[in-house]
Amino acid sequence: MSPAEPHALPFRQQGQVPCFKEEKPGWGGYIEWEKYPEKKKAAAEILAKYDFPHPPEFQLQPLPNTNPILEGVRWKQYHYALGRTLRYLPDISWEYVQQEKSPDMIHVLQFPYNGEPPRDRLVETEITNNLDHFVRNHGGVPEINADDWTLDITGLVNNPKTLTLKELQDESLFPRKSVVVTLQCSGTRRIEQIEQYPGDGDELINAPWGEGAIGTARWTGVSLKKVIKYCGGLAEGAKHLEFYGADTYFKKGQVYNYVVSVPVRKAKANEVLLAWEMNGKPLPRIHGFPVRTIVFGYIGARSCKWLYQIKAISAPSMAPVQMKEYIYYTTQIGKQNATYSNGCSIQKMPVSSAIMTPVNKSQIIHDGKIKLRGWAYSGSGWPVRVEVSADGGSVWYEVPYENLTKKYFHAWRLWEIDMPVDAEGWLEFCVRTWDDAQNTQPTYVRSACARNWDLHVTSSCHRVKIYSINRSKPMTAKRLKILEDKGISILPITRPLEIDLESNEEYLEEMEKRQGRDPEE
Ligand code: MTE
Repeated sequence: MSPAEPHALPFRQQGQVPCFKEEKPGWGGYIEWEKYPEKKKAAAEILAKYDFPHPPEFQLQPLPNTNPILEGVRWKQYHYALGRTLRYLPDISWEYVQQEKSPDMIHVLQFPYNGEPPRDRLVETEITNNLDHFVRNHGGVPEINADDWTLDITGLVNNPKTLTLKELQDESLFPRKSVVVTLQCSGTRRIEQIEQYPGDGDELINAPWGEGAIGTARWTGVSLKKVIKYCGGLAEGAKHLEFYGADTYFKKGQVYNYVVSVPVRKAKANEVLLAWEMNGKPLPRIHGFPVRTIVFGYIGARSCKWLYQIKAISAPSMAPVQMKEYIYYTTQIGKQNATYSNGCSIQKMPVSSAIMTPVNKSQIIHDGKIKLRGWAYSGSGWPVRVEVSADGGSVWYEVPYENLTKKYFHAWRLWEIDMPVDAEGWLEFCVRTWDDAQNTQPTYVRSACARNWDLHVTSSCHRVKIYSINRSKPMTAKRLKILEDKGISILPITRPLEIDLESNEEYLEEMEKRQGRDPEE
């Protein structure tokens, strides 16, 4: 798809076409790896036979101007290599994108699918339309029948159980809960880091996200706390809860299921929901049908889709998504020093915000005010104040409180402001948000993220450059009128003007007023 990548097909199978069977009927695309070390080993041996193409260079070179921006050839080929069950998943997953997502999504990576909505639409409604909610997948979309779905609650619980969807939805067993929660991928705004400080290419291409890897929905389901209680509570030593997703995940030549964990106290605080509805509708397949976790305030990675097992364990999961990814490093740690233990594991999302309209490099004719709109979010609280600057961050204007959407404990607030803009030419607008603990955002990408080799959490003040043409200024108004009378547009500003900028008479008159070009003595 992107010109930088070789084609995924034709793919030459090495040896016999392998067959890793689906674990259960009614669970299309789900291969259980975690229970079967031998099967994992066999898959790794097959993968080792191949020379998969490197991900394309998209950090040191400009991104392809295509949609999908990146194709994910390497990842597709992993799936082709493992034979019948996984081979069709890239195509099946792409079909779900067509069925369940808006046609104008920005596909940052075709497979595994990563997509975000157009910037303006994301801030039109405080609850994101399901069609527009960003998607971040690490593998293919499993096709699970609701009637065949079960959830195993295992590990350090007093009475391990297997629950069906019917049981989970039985309100005599579990009270139903409906909560507005923002999900944010820790890769949101990664493109700003890529542009300035390229980082780890990662095995799974570090998708070049813009400002749209965030969305808000009303999620309905049951609190995990109640489900654990139903299983007789946690046994001695249980400190973390591991979530298992049915998709296949590849890391450094090995296969896994998608597995992450959260501390037990997160569930005890009623901040983990087992959700089957997104905005009053069954979860779309691409968002984890039939059931996923929603972990309030944490990076989206912990909100495990296509959930099939929850295991109580004594320490954070050692599955690669938990242990080897989503790590935040200190300043001088890079390719030469990074380990899994010398970075911080990212759990809570910091306070951050973005200007969604106008977009970077807009050229705007206005009468002294420019309307800005965006989002503001904090994983450990809620936004209490949003401030915007038109001069790169010296003078800040507070967004009037009535221009912020409703407060929720676990969701973003959208904002808009008619910003007074006197100056003309290129101006740097930026936004910063304060949360209820008075946390705010670092000033520059450099101050926040240059220390982040893994390219996560771009939480510095978001900046856009806007070209201001202020019609309330007499000279500007005059020039615009002349152009209008001649039917010429001033935009784009990069096109040379077809008219003389002033007549010889006007020039001489002005020169006189300005005492000529040179001094007289
Ligand atoms: N769960 C599974 N099983 N597989 C995945 O690839 N991606 C995670 C999380 N849960 C993922 C998953 C990541 S990184 C994010 S940001 C969120 O899902 C995105 O949720 P969404 O695609 O519903 O927006």
